[in-house]
Amino acid sequence: MGEPHLVVLDDARALARAGADVVAGVVNADGPVTIVPATGETPVGMYEELAARRARGDLDTRDVSIVQLDEYLGLEPDDRRALFGWMKRTVLEPLAVGAERVARLPTEGDVDAACAIFERELDASGGIDLVILGLGTNGHLGFNEPPSDASSVTRTVDLTADTIAANARYWGSERDVPTRAVTLGLRPLLEARHIMLLVAGASKHTIVRRALEGPVGEDVPASFVREARGSVTVLVDRAAWEGE
Ligand code: F6R
Repeated sequence: MGEPHLVVLDDARALARAGADVVAGVVNADGPVTIVPATGETPVGMYEELAARRARGDLDTRDVSIVQLDEYLGLEPDDRRALFGWMKRTVLEPLAVGAERVARLPTEGDVDAACAIFERELDASGGIDLVILGLGTNGHLGFNEPPSDASSVTRTVDLTADTIAANARYWGSERDVPTRAVTLGLRPLLEARHIMLLVAGASKHTIVRRALEGPVGEDVPASFVREARGSVTVLVDRAAWEGE
């Protein structure tokens, strides 16, 4: 554990490249790797960069396994809003990760009981090598909404009004945003061997500064990256860091 390694990048292109370098470093290391990739807008350019490297033969993803970070609840499996579909389009297909190498979060039946089993199996399989995270404007990581403690487990959550308002831009309006979700807990995320947090845009200025410079605590779940077990890289574009 140490201070996060903070890198401020000029623009979205530089952020995508720097993020892809971190992912490639983990993927190109020997042996199988388990990656948790956030959906959302911030990492999309980085996933495109990784797909381009793979297409050029510069990245071999055959040993990559993927664990889902979060998902809405109450949707039909083929609902356009399912985050699994978003992950499939932006990560699994472009990086050629087949279904047999993907662990999908439970969404049916007793979801909290199934989450406890999911988390035990994740630990038993060796945990997470790299988690790629975006930052909610309310400080959430995955759907670990404030308040979320560092020991929080994989579980169902009610989305906060902030997150519903922020996610309306994905789906049309606030009415289209599901209100319940399932998320990997902060506990398994903070135990990952590497964490990479990507932050872009002036709308994230206040929260990224609070997360990295304010008090560490459950009101800003992202602040716990400063107490993570493994190495932490925070890539921030200039707009988010300077607030311009
Ligand atoms: C998405 C996720 C969320 C987003 C965050 C930032 O799977 O877990 O925590 O990473 O809300 O979203 P964007 O990147 O769209 O600003």
